[in-house]
Amino acid sequence: MTANELRTMYVNFFKERGHKEIASASLLPENDPTVLFTTAGMHPLVPYLLGEKHPSGNRLTDVQKCVRTEDIDEVGDDTHCTFFEMLGNWSLGDYFKQESISMSFEFLTKYLNIPIERLAVTVFEGDELVPADVEAEEIWKSFGLTSEQIYRYGREDNWWGPAGQTGPCGPDTEIFYDMGKPKCGPKCGPSCHCGKYVEIWNNVFMQFNKEADGSFTELKQKNVDTGMGLERVLTIFNGKTNVYDTELFIPVMQKLESILEREGKELSEREKRIICEHIRTVTFILGDPMQISPSNTEQGYILRRLIRRIIRLLKKVDINTNYLCELSEVIIEQYKTTYPELGENRGFILEQLQKEYTLFSKTLDDGLKKANRYLDNIENTGVLSGELAFKLYDTYGFPIEFTSELALERGFMVDADGFNKRFKEHQDKSRQGAAGKFAGGLADNNEQTARLHTATHLLNGALRKVLGNEVFQRGSNITSERLRFDFSFGRKVTKEELEQVEAIVNEAIGQKIDVILEEMTLEKAYEEGAIGVFSGKYGEIVKVYTVPGYSKEICGGPHAKNTEELVSFKILKEEASSAGVRRIKAVIGTK
Ligand code: ALA
Repeated sequence: MTANELRTMYVNFFKERGHKEIASASLLPENDPTVLFTTAGMHPLVPYLLGEKHPSGNRLTDVQKCVRTEDIDEVGDDTHCTFFEMLGNWSLGDYFKQESISMSFEFLTKYLNIPIERLAVTVFEGDELVPADVEAEEIWKSFGLTSEQIYRYGREDNWWGPAGQTGPCGPDTEIFYDMGKPKCGPKCGPSCHCGKYVEIWNNVFMQFNKEADGSFTELKQKNVDTGMGLERVLTIFNGKTNVYDTELFIPVMQKLESILEREGKELSEREKRIICEHIRTVTFILGDPMQISPSNTEQGYILRRLIRRIIRLLKKVDINTNYLCELSEVIIEQYKTTYPELGENRGFILEQLQKEYTLFSKTLDDGLKKANRYLDNIENTGVLSGELAFKLYDTYGFPIEFTSELALERGFMVDADGFNKRFKEHQDKSRQGAAGKFAGGLADNNEQTARLHTATHLLNGALRKVLGNEVFQRGSNITSERLRFDFSFGRKVTKEELEQVEAIVNEAIGQKIDVILEEMTLEKAYEEGAIGVFSGKYGEIVKVYTVPGYSKEICGGPHAKNTEELVSFKILKEEASSAGVRRIKAVIGTK
């Protein structure tokens, strides 16, 4: 089976069972202050899991691009990837456990033809908050799974979410494929990492919202959120033992091998896997319509870290030519039919890879010499101080993880806490990034977020009025205090222009205008002049929020009901964000 056959088979299976297909969202979540990337299919659906009505109904399915960096050290093994595609289906207050498990079982055994004895599942064992999930267990048994195939685990293993600090979550039932190896010991089960059990699907019964104070409240509706890993299922279905032996990685692996042959160099299997895995992630991040570049903060930092890791692995065997573009082109070619943004942004992807290579290769040799000198001198302690690690970062652009890797190759450690302390001192700006905040928390979907979100739309509209229609949103981030808006524009915005923009937004607030929400097809929204992301599927129903005379945008919401709720609007700062992108930070008045 090909990847595309699997995508189609999955989506069609759920469409035939009343689900509407929705488009894969951007890898860069919007309006979420603490999460760097979209880590699961549920991520763009948070408002709907919390009770807002989805324009496509209450049964949804899709294939979502995801990036998870917390597993980065696992990359190179058989199954862990920093980028992956998640096949998902959702019930927004519609069906629950019985139907969800029943559909999963049917898909696994009748469509993927997995023999029932190769399945193992886990269910929640219960705690003081939620009782044991006897219901899920009984449902599995009713389909013929034996007690030996059903494992009960606690909150550590059988509770999913929230994706960050707050948001929807609940107990889950996870589905594993038994690779057929013998158990590694008497305790071996799906939670063991010996490789016998590979998780392929997770059905989360989302009934709770984790609040900022750590408490759990019952959601208005009981949802199902599921996620199946495309790479893993493809591996298993095709009788392979690792994701690199699937069509998803074979072409890039072959390209890498031909490069090594050309150069007369060798790398270990693990190193080759890391390079191929990272170049795919990097290509997808750079290919996202949000067009982010390598930098020292947030998503740009992750991108930088992944690219630099590839450069270093090649440099280690003395390969001094930039092969990033050649490798990335294989990924673009392979995926561009399914993800047209890769083809559309090909120029940007290659240009950024070229730039980062040039920037880093200049200092890499000097940095490596210096790092090795530092490491030579710590033979007795075995620990590289935070101060020296920071020096390598500051002078030579060595990400801390990169320095840790160098140290580890010689059996040494790095004082990461000491590094982080210095990093924070020097860069109070970088709340995220090197300090390792890769997971983070979902934005509070509260009234303040809604008000700032509406202010963001008004700002976007006002910028286009004052600066012209070449202004496009490049990113948006809201915290409880302020909004931050990135947009394409080639020069500094003058003080006068900023004053005009501010005045337009305040005028809209003063006029106390109702914010109108309509649902329409993507094509109609486009015809009506709405701005926003148009990457959806033909005929897809979208939400359009309008402040007549000021703004019309495709957007999931939520928003303020009337502009007067914003009270007032003030721009705090305008600065460059990256090449051709400006950033504005602004606040609104308190109610
Ligand atoms: N959101 C669930 C997961 O990521 C399905 O595992």
